[in-house]
Amino acid sequence: MAILLTGAAGFIGSHTAVELLNAGKEIVVADNLSNAEETAVENIRKITGKDFPFYKADIMDENAMDRVFEEQDIQSVIHFAGYKAVGESVEKPIMYYENNLGTTISLLKSMRKFGCSRIIFSSSATVYGDRNPIPYREDMQTGIGITNPYGWTKYMIERILTDAAAADPDLSVVLLRYFNPIGAHESGLIGEKPNGIPNNLMPYITQTAAGIREKLTIFGNDYPTEDGTCERDFIHVVDLAKGHLAACEYADEHKGTEIFNLGTGHPVSVLELVNAFIRANGVDVPYTFGPRREGDLPAYYADATKAKEVLGWEAEKTIEDMCRDSWRWECHCRSLSEE
Ligand code: NAD
Ligand code: UD1
Repeated sequence: MAILLTGAAGFIGSHTAVELLNAGKEIVVADNLSNAEETAVENIRKITGKDFPFYKADIMDENAMDRVFEEQDIQSVIHFAGYKAVGESVEKPIMYYENNLGTTISLLKSMRKFGCSRIIFSSSATVYGDRNPIPYREDMQTGIGITNPYGWTKYMIERILTDAAAADPDLSVVLLRYFNPIGAHESGLIGEKPNGIPNNLMPYITQTAAGIREKLTIFGNDYPTEDGTCERDFIHVVDLAKGHLAACEYADEHKGTEIFNLGTGHPVSVLELVNAFIRANGVDVPYTFGPRREGDLPAYYADATKAKEVLGWEAEKTIEDMCRDSWRWECHCRSLSEE
């Protein structure tokens, strides 16, 4: 019996594949490589020394997914596949709704045909919107003040999966709300590869340290936070990956829908992260303060109690680990591009 990972050539999926294989699980990977390279799949094999089937397939293609379920003995699915760039989703909303909702619906249909009844979904803290007090708890109301189509797709998919589980007493749905995943596997072989100029903070920091970007602009230093810069719940991607292992085990034992925040429960400011990166790696990151970025919240972080109590999972790695591992990955990418 295997776990199907959609989108596992990508950042979070590839790290989860490694943790599942290391824990002795069998996996099957499906990805259309729209935002990833096949080398990530090879590197998962290299890190773990284990093999698994890889399907280069579009999850929206129901026939292709039926073939995966026909050929493999799939007991549960972790659904990572989707588009994730907030700015792009504002420019191309239809593309985002089609891909993110379309992959989920085609998966649910194939799962039903083949009697697979467990699904774990990559949701985001963005569903908490802009009105909830911090830290965010799973029982807070979602969907108020979501500012972009990407965020709405996460909200809508949570709804679709919850409704599907309400209608089918056999279905197990686990919604994982990620906070800000950064870092990379300590081997330096897998990590996050942004397309073009990075929008997210950590890739911008590593590319600035590598000299690809001239300097980092910190968006706003007049927020009502301790040092005036925004605060986020940065979580090491390997810790996040381990949360999926715990979620799979939970889905094996429980029916219905359950929601878990995957965060550290501790806010760290943008400036603190930049300084931690400089300290941890002994490299310079030139930065300047600029105006606030539209749509940014001053501060948010997880209440991580539920995942600890129910799943027995909590984040273990430090900000220094996240900075060191992100930099090792950047250096690996640079060495490949210089070859
Ligand atoms: P990623 O882009 O690195 O990985 C997504 C993978 O899905 C890519 O490999 C891409 O090729 C694949 N994919 C996209 N559409 C597909 C399709 N139709 N068929 C097959 N494969 C397809 O992103 P990530 O950072 O690893 O994120 C994984 C999931 O977690 C996404 O759903 C994302 O929205 C969600 N998430 C990410 C973050 C984050 O900060 N990275 C935060 C919250 C939620
Ligand atoms: C963003 C998305 C969120 C998504 C997440 C994926 C928004 C509003 N939110 O979160 O939905 O799930 O990415 O990781 O887009 N920063 C700088 N300079 C930079 C880049 C970022 O100062 O060059 C700051 C931002 O202002 C923010 C913090 O760093 O305060 C983190 O930014 P980012 O990495 O983009 O993540 P979020 O905006 O928190």
